[in-house]
Amino acid sequence: MPTIIFLPQKDLCPRGMVVNANQGEIILNIALHNNIKIEHACEKSCACTTCHCIIRKGFSSLEASGEREDEILDKAWGLELESRLSCQTKVASEDLVIEIPQYTINYAREY
Ligand code: FES
Repeated sequence: MPTIIFLPQKDLCPRGMVVNANQGEIILNIALHNNIKIEHACEKSCACTTCHCIIRKGFSSLEASGEREDEILDKAWGLELESRLSCQTKVASEDLVIEIPQYTINYAREY
């Protein structure tokens, strides 16, 4: 059972979190089930970039992103080579370390 480490993110997950996940689970769903409220403005339909995350470890274990995901991801704030849309990305067999960007393209969060 892969371990998923969410790195600390000031607003959504200040202390970070370590959870176990099943292979095939969607990263966004894992976060939401653990009360990490990653935005998902398009309700997981691969039409926004608000669920953007960066896979700091384990990226190469993931199934490659599809054309549609790449197209949408291109518009994400803070895009990196290891960026993915968390609503489209399934856990594979390896552990993951995930960074949730501080901002989305929609707005800078203010609390
Ligand atoms: S929630 Fe919109 S692309 Fe993931």
